[in-house]
Amino acid sequence: MKYEKTATLVLDRYYEVSEIDERIYGSFVEHLGRCVYGGIYEPGHPEADEDGFRKDVLSLVRELHIPIIRYPGGNFVSNYHWEDGVGPVELRPHRVDLAWTAMETNRVGVNEFARWVKKANSSAMMAVNLGTRGIEDACNLLEYCNHPGGSRWSDLRKQHGVPEPYGFRVWCLGNEMDGPWQIGHKTAAEYGRLASETAKAMKALDPSVELVACGSSSSTMPTFGSWESTVLDEAYENIDYVSMHAYYNNIENDSRDFLGSSVDFNSFIETMISTIDAAKARRHCCRQIDISLDEWNVWFHSMEHDKTIERWSVSPHQLEDVYTLEDALVVGTLLIGMINHSDRVKIACLAQLVNVIAPIMTEEGGPAWRQTIYYPFAHASQYGRGKALLPVVDCPKYDSKKYKDVPLLDVSAVWREEDGELTIFAVNKDLEDPVLLTANLHGFEPCEAVEHIVLTGEDLKQTNTSSCQNAVVPEERPRPQVEDSVLQAELPKHSWNVIRLKRIKKGI
Ligand code: AHR
Repeated sequence: MKYEKTATLVLDRYYEVSEIDERIYGSFVEHLGRCVYGGIYEPGHPEADEDGFRKDVLSLVRELHIPIIRYPGGNFVSNYHWEDGVGPVELRPHRVDLAWTAMETNRVGVNEFARWVKKANSSAMMAVNLGTRGIEDACNLLEYCNHPGGSRWSDLRKQHGVPEPYGFRVWCLGNEMDGPWQIGHKTAAEYGRLASETAKAMKALDPSVELVACGSSSSTMPTFGSWESTVLDEAYENIDYVSMHAYYNNIENDSRDFLGSSVDFNSFIETMISTIDAAKARRHCCRQIDISLDEWNVWFHSMEHDKTIERWSVSPHQLEDVYTLEDALVVGTLLIGMINHSDRVKIACLAQLVNVIAPIMTEEGGPAWRQTIYYPFAHASQYGRGKALLPVVDCPKYDSKKYKDVPLLDVSAVWREEDGELTIFAVNKDLEDPVLLTANLHGFEPCEAVEHIVLTGEDLKQTNTSSCQNAVVPEERPRPQVEDSVLQAELPKHSWNVIRLKRIKKGI
């Protein structure tokens, strides 16, 4: 076959970006809509375990190999009283959730979440309320969770049946405090001081914690850049990460444009790195602050519906985006962007995990299934661990409404020395044609392709639903040829690709 569109990739075993921090394959559970209630937790469900957690959901979560899960919000945390969610369930109050104008029943709190996260083979990334509360409450929660005992809050934990401290390592200092929508929104200077003093107190209590200060809620925030500079100038010494949040949409129904979202994503990350390093330079110090991309995804399908939700509902159907094939491709390009910036992006959380802009959907009393975006995330989490290599790509480019020079292919590569395994992730954004990819593999021992997994389909708008759960699923393609360290693979039109190569074992 003669290809109209071709691309070349050069990979060299010694051109490394970084060892990937596995926490980039994190996710997020917020008390929002049906993420907790009706998502991970549904006591009356036929699949519920002894704690009321859905086993079908747990098994789909485990399949994603998620090392860290952020909790309990999100916007929710900025008006949350964690004490409402501990102790005897029958004594827990119902509270108005001002962020989502919903009713929180507090049947699940930090101890239930800790139990669930363990069952999910994961760990918790906690967030404290710096919206309506402050240093003292943040320290009380940390003491409750991580202090061994002999103090007011750690002894209360013991009284609640948890003798050993959890030792939660990563903590977010509030959520999206730059956003005017946030309950307790602050100016950068106000937040920077509060974050710094809260961090100082939390580290005095437990020096093992790693703390994330809020950066910008999106690349389009008018304060992006200046917000980080002010916060970092206040808090640099006391924090470990700056957060960024990134959501993309196809509201204008322009697929070429939407598929170009990673142009903005990559530049957002790179500008964030420069902003952080400029603060470092101003201080003449050498400690590096890294990025926690603690919310990212595609989000827009549910926005109109959500305007109709009745105020103070208990776990309403909210932010229930039903994802298409093209959403999965965009998620793939964002995963590739993270891998390619893994020298500075050390934590990332796919927002969210179940029902709420999520890879997993459930029906009350019914099934749980995988949305389209489940697949690129599962592949990256499974095969994207090891060393990220620098992908040198030469491919056609296009201009779209919002973006200039959108590369037709997004590519990343991960090398796992111990298993002799090289994985190439690639998205072909071309809507009409396949692209022939020629990859020159330098410095690797002889290897062969063992698998070419593809997620594609004729209809970019195809979704997986309760009644048709497998409309968009990955398929195996014929294994690409590798000759003299040159791989040739056909990447179908609008597709997510995982090409796995393995070192050839000698002389058995
Ligand atoms: O993930 C949904 C919401 O998006 C989060 O609560 C908030 O932090 C962000 O605006």
